[in-house]
Amino acid sequence: MKVVRLSHEIFSQLKFARESGKRVGLIPTMGALHEGHLSLVRRAKEICDLVAVTIFVNPTQFAPNEDLAKYPRTLDADLEKLLSVGTDFVFTPESSTIYPPGFSTYVEAPAVAAPLEGAFRPGHFRGVATIVLKLFNLVPADIAFFGSKDYQQLAVIRTMVHDLDVPIRIEGCPTIRESDGLAMSSRNRYLNGEERSRALGLWQALRRVQQQIETGERSVLTLEATMREVLLDAKVTSIDYARIVHNETLQDLERVDSSAIALIAARVGATRLIDNLKLEVPMAMNE
Ligand code: PAF
Repeated sequence: MKVVRLSHEIFSQLKFARESGKRVGLIPTMGALHEGHLSLVRRAKEICDLVAVTIFVNPTQFAPNEDLAKYPRTLDADLEKLLSVGTDFVFTPESSTIYPPGFSTYVEAPAVAAPLEGAFRPGHFRGVATIVLKLFNLVPADIAFFGSKDYQQLAVIRTMVHDLDVPIRIEGCPTIRESDGLAMSSRNRYLNGEERSRALGLWQALRRVQQQIETGERSVLTLEATMREVLLDAKVTSIDYARIVHNETLQDLERVDSSAIALIAARVGATRLIDNLKLEVPMAMNE
């Protein structure tokens, strides 16, 4: 596994690999890696000849009230994990390489970035779109892999790649969960034992909505109220949103149909967690 800090070095090595006919897979991360990230590497290894992971805590995607300095940085442990799953290249640039003095060009995030996370984290997706486009340029790859836990992020990246004709394929991969259903996240490490139990409320709320759909409920207002009820019963600290929207546009729906997805953002203690579930409408009852 080669660990590369310089952008011209990762660029030339992967450009050469691709010109020699190798298919390159790219997994952008901010480090603090867990099984969810490793599942992306495993998936990339199935369909690519070489796998490159980037580790960069991107300052421009943190809103002014969010603590960039507190974001976990665990480089040695991350490298060990990446080695154990057979990663070929790790790109860990300095912040000054990515954002040199005078940097002033940003990607304006697409419409799908506006609701949900976009409403609660102003500027977040502008920062995500900008860094992801830069990484696509610096780390030439055929396919980029992203987890579905950050569902809106995946939608933003897909739209950007489509709208700006970026020559890369985007593959969305399933959310990886602990055995009790908690979605894996770098932020879970902030939860103490009691908060960890309360955090399960997110998955319980999503599951309850799916069960209600199976018993015939289709009203989005009713189902969203159920999600909030389950979250409050689980004693989450606060709810940013618990919404059911169209799975591609992320626009409001009145009735659940096969295009619906439920998304939640809630705080447990000081930790902000997100999760989502694509809702399944039983065939016979599909309206
Ligand atoms: O999902 C993440 O870890 C980050 O948002 C990403 C895509 C690596 C961009 O910094």
